[in-house]
Amino acid sequence: MSEKENRKMKSAIYPGSFDPLTYGHINIINRGRKIFDRVVVAVAGNMSKNTTFTIDERADIIKELFRGVKGVEVVSFRGLLVNYMSRRGIRTILRGLRTFSDFEYEFQMAMGNKKLAQEVETLFMITEGEYSYISSSIIKEIVALGGSARGMVPPLVEKKLREKLRAERAAVKRGR
Ligand code: PNS
Repeated sequence: MSEKENRKMKSAIYPGSFDPLTYGHINIINRGRKIFDRVVVAVAGNMSKNTTFTIDERADIIKELFRGVKGVEVVSFRGLLVNYMSRRGIRTILRGLRTFSDFEYEFQMAMGNKKLAQEVETLFMITEGEYSYISSSIIKEIVALGGSARGMVPPLVEKKLREKLRAERAAVKRGR
């Protein structure tokens, strides 16, 4: 293996919607940093999902939280993940696996990406127990209904979420 190829193998991409980033995601990023020289956190756009935050807002939050942290790069991409990876010369996808119910979706994605790009490998990290129940959608529901998401997301994320939900409610009121 050439030195160049070896260098490429030391980067992994950690793709996701991150709408918003949770402590579960942060746990995977930090554990990924121990294995890879660089973890490229890749915020996906152009998805069928309706997201609360725009792609730029999601990426900016993660950039702010990881500013100055060695071995973490935050990017956003549109279109197919494997195409972005090919442009960047990255061949490893890192994904967290929380519960058994995550498996089917993750399996389909890993197989889909493999079919699209044979050289791409997906590695799974089992989410640490205390984070296995956290999901971005549960957090949004808790905050929307006035609950506290402390311990589930960083304070910055909770603040941004509250601002966003307040702005959404104001827009609905205006539209009435
Ligand atoms: O956090 P999520 O929503 O579970 O992440 C899903 C994500 C963004 C990793 C997946 O939807 C994705 O890779 N989207 C980019 C488009 C793509 O490549 N789709 C084909 C996957 S086989």
